Amino acid sequence: MRIQKEIQRLSQQLENYNYQYYVLDEPSVPDAEYDYIFQQLLILEKENPTLLSANSPTQKVGGLALSKFEQVTHQKPMLSLDNVFEAQALKDFMLRAEDKSDSHNITFCIEPKLDGLAVSIIYKEGLLIQAATRGDGKTGENVTENVKTIKNLPLKLRGENIPPLLEVRGEVFMLKAGFDKLNKKLNDAGEKPFVNPRNAAAGSLRQLDSKIAASRPLAFYCYAVGVFEGELTNSQFERINQLKAWGLPVSDEVKQLTGEQACLDYYQAIEKKRPDLAYEIDGVVYKVDNITLQDKLGFVARAPRWATAYKFPAEEAVTTVENVEFQVGRTGAITPVAKLKPVFVGGVTVSNATLHNKDEIKRLGILIGDVVIVRRAGDVIPQVARVLVEKRESQKTEKIIFPVVCPVCASALERIEGEATIRCTGGLYCGAQRKEAIKHFSSRKALDIDGLGNKLVELLVDHKLIDSPAHLFDLTATQLSSLPRMGEVSAKKLLNSLQMSKKTTLARFLYSLGIREVGEATANNLANHYKTIDALKGASIENLQSVSDVGEIVAKHIYYFFRQTHNIDVLNQLLEAGIHWPEIIQLAVSDLPLTGQIFVITGSFNVMARSDIKSALQDLGAKVAGSVSKKTTTVIAGEAAGSKLTKAQDLGIEIMDEDALLILLNKK
Ligand code: IVH
Repeated sequence: MRIQKEIQRLSQQLENYNYQYYVLDEPSVPDAEYDYIFQQLLILEKENPTLLSANSPTQKVGGLALSKFEQVTHQKPMLSLDNVFEAQALKDFMLRAEDKSDSHNITFCIEPKLDGLAVSIIYKEGLLIQAATRGDGKTGENVTENVKTIKNLPLKLRGENIPPLLEVRGEVFMLKAGFDKLNKKLNDAGEKPFVNPRNAAAGSLRQLDSKIAASRPLAFYCYAVGVFEGELTNSQFERINQLKAWGLPVSDEVKQLTGEQACLDYYQAIEKKRPDLAYEIDGVVYKVDNITLQDKLGFVARAPRWATAYKFPAEEAVTTVENVEFQVGRTGAITPVAKLKPVFVGGVTVSNATLHNKDEIKRLGILIGDVVIVRRAGDVIPQVARVLVEKRESQKTEKIIFPVVCPVCASALERIEGEATIRCTGGLYCGAQRKEAIKHFSSRKALDIDGLGNKLVELLVDHKLIDSPAHLFDLTATQLSSLPRMGEVSAKKLLNSLQMSKKTTLARFLYSLGIREVGEATANNLANHYKTIDALKGASIENLQSVSDVGEIVAKHIYYFFRQTHNIDVLNQLLEAGIHWPEIIQLAVSDLPLTGQIFVITGSFNVMARSDIKSALQDLGAKVAGSVSKKTTTVIAGEAAGSKLTKAQDLGIEIMDEDALLILLNKK
C-alpha cells in the first residue's frame, strides 16, 4: 500500500513536469531532477512488477515490437480538407459558409496546417488506450505502441471533468531541429536520410519496433475532438483550450478571429513567421468556430463545408536540369548553379538552383539532363532537393565537369583541405572579385583613400575606368569629372588623396592586397617578420608558418597568392605607381651588426629552431643563403652537419656551432 502510494506520487510528479515542459512550455525543474525521480520510479516498478501501470510515465520508451499493425475502424470517419490557394478563394469560402448557414460575421478558429500525419487517440477514463493512423479515413492502423512514445503526449489526462471517453485528433510531426539531427545521425551511420520532416514522421510512426519510434524526435499537436462522452463547449477554439487544460499539447498559433481582413492578416503574419517556427506548416486551416453551425453546414463528399485549408504556394516542384554553370562570387568562391527548365515553385518562377559545391554535386549524384525536385523554402535560394533517378534517360544525361581554372579570369583554383569551397586565386585580377578587391584596397585600414567610397568604386568599375587597384593611380581629372555627381573639386580632392595614400606602411600594403585570411594583425606580423615584400614573396609555405599566428592554411593562401602571375603584375604596377613605405628597414639594414655578411645554416639544433636562427640572423642584417660558396662568411653547423660543413672546411670559412651562435646572438 505504502509502495503503491509512493509510485503514484512519483508518477504524478513526473506527469506534472511533463505537462509544464511540453504543454505549457515552461520547464519547472532541472533535467537532472527529472531524471532522478524517473529513476526512482523505475526502480520501484521493477521491484514491484504487479504495480506497474500501462500509463506510467516510464512506459514512454517503447518496447513492444510488432509483426504487423492491426486495423482500427474509426467510429467517426476522419475527413480531409478542401484547399484554397489564393485570398479570393478564401473569401468565397467564407461567404459560402455565411450563405449556407444564414449567418453574418462568422467567427473562425484559425490554426496552422501542421505538416505531418493525422492520428486519432482515444482516452478512456483519462487513460490513453488506443492510437490509430487516419488510413483511408474509415480504417487506419493501430500505432498505439509508437504513439505512446511521443514525448509531449500524455498517457494520462489531468485536470477537472475529464470525460469518460475522449477521442482527440491531431497531427504527429517532427520538429525541424530534431529532423536535422536525425538525418545527420542517419548520414553518419551510412543510412539513407529522410527527404523532409513529414516523411521522417511517417516513417517513424510506421516502425514495427516501438523502441525505434521512441528514439525518433516525434511530437503531437491536437486540433480536433472526435467521439466523446460527456459535456464539451460549443466552440472549436474553446475546445482546443480545454484539451490544453487536460494536458494535451496544442499549437500556440491557434486564434479565434472574426472578419475577412483579420483572417487574411493571420495568413500573411504566419507566412512570415513560418521560417522561425520549430515545426513545418504548409498552410492555414480556417474552421467555423461554432460547432452547431458546423453541424448545420455539414459535408460535401469527404470534406467539411465549415473548414478549408489556405495552402502556402507549393515549395517543391519537378523540373529538368538543362545545364550547369559556375559562378564566381565576390570572394572567389566557385558555385555550381543548375540552370533549370523554368518552373513555378513557392510563388515564383525559378530557373536557377544552387548546387553549393563539388561535394553537394556528388551527394545528389546529379547529372545534366536529370529530372529533379527543386525546393524553395522561405527566403532561401532554390535548392535541388533530390534527383528522380527513376526518371533518368541515360542518353539524355551528361556528367557535370567542374572547371579546372576560374571561369572568369582563368586563374588557378584552390581548395583548402577540410573546406568544401573551391576558390579562384585571382584575387586582385579576377573580374568577379574586382569590385570587392578595390573596395578593400581603399578601405580605412588598408590604403585609406579618402573620398573613395564603395559607391564610387562600383561606378569606376562599371564605367570601365579601372579594373585593378593599380589603375586607380592612373585616373585623370578629366576621367573623374565625367562621372555622374562628380564635380571638379571632388575629382581634385580624390586625386590628391590617391597621391597621399601612396605613402603607407608595409603592413597596410600587405593588408590591402586582400590575401585570403590575412587580416590586419597577420599583415602586421608578416611585415615585422619579413621586412620587405621580396622576402615575403619568396617565403615557402613552411617558412611562412614560422610567423606568429600563421598556420598552414593562411601560409598556403599567402604562398599561392604570390604564385599567381596576375597578382604579381598588379603588385608590380602598384609599386611602379609609387606606393612606398618608410624604408626604416632598408636604411637600418646598412647599420645592423651583421650587414653584408652571408650565413649558411646546416645540421640540426637543440635550443633554437632553424627558422628562428634564420630570422634572428636576418634581423641583425645578415643574409642567409642555402648553399656554401666563396662568398659565405660563416656556416652555422648543428649536429650531424654534412656536405655543407665539409665544403666550408675546404674553403676555410668560419664555422660556428649552436653555442657559439647563441653567444653571438646574445652579444648582438
Ligand atoms: S482538421 C474535418 N486541422 O490536414 C477536418 N487538419 O488536409 C479534418 N492538418 O488529414 C482536419 N493541421 O492531417 C485539421 N489544424 C489542423 C490541421 C489539419 C494539419 C492535416 C490533417 C488532415 C489534413 C487534411
